[in-house]
Amino acid sequence: MVPEKFTLAVLVSGRGSNLQAIIDSIKKNNLPAEVAVVISNVRDAYALERARKHGIENVFLDPESYPDRNSYEQALAERLQSKSVNLICLAGFMRILGKHFIETFTGRIINIHPSLLPAFPGLNAQKQALDRGAKFSGCTAHYVDEEVDGGPIILQAVVPVHDDDDEASLSARILAQEHIIYPAAIRLIIEGKLTLSGRKVLHGNSRRNSA
Ligand code: GAR
Repeated sequence: MVPEKFTLAVLVSGRGSNLQAIIDSIKKNNLPAEVAVVISNVRDAYALERARKHGIENVFLDPESYPDRNSYEQALAERLQSKSVNLICLAGFMRILGKHFIETFTGRIINIHPSLLPAFPGLNAQKQALDRGAKFSGCTAHYVDEEVDGGPIILQAVVPVHDDDDEASLSARILAQEHIIYPAAIRLIIEGKLTLSGRKVLHGNSRRNSA
């Protein structure tokens, strides 16, 4: 049973192409959700402009205006609670969230990361894959827990790494897959098809799960 209005908050820091993929999926009726608010920790993030263009509430929450991380995250949490969002989607949000924030929204924060986790967590995942000589890389949609890029994996997509790839070409190949799996992961959550079992995410219609 899909709830009538499933609301998302999307947290961003930059270009916002994953935000755009979410908006496009909603517009194409592939995602029964509404983006209630887009929040950026970077003033001139292009993602804010994308939100504006689609009439979505958009907020620059300036980390410089708060004395420390806790008070910033408290303000962020209050914003999100005031919108009663069902799910918080990190989409290129380049801040690590603290324990208290994550506990406040347990099981309701997801992220998209440009590698096949647990390989290459953290920054510059595509460069890490190239430097390590990986033959395949990809992207991962996952729940967020206290371990950076370490939460339970929802969906992954694999792409080949070519000998002549540079960071830009590999990033573009991965990004195209991010735009597919992130909305798909959100949809699975909305449809109630996922169950958390320790570190694992079980997909409802797997035959083994129903045995
Ligand atoms: C995406 O590649 C996303 O996977 C990555 O930042 C990019 C944001 O692009 N996120 C991380 O590396 C998080 N660890 P976008 O602003 O165009 O969506």
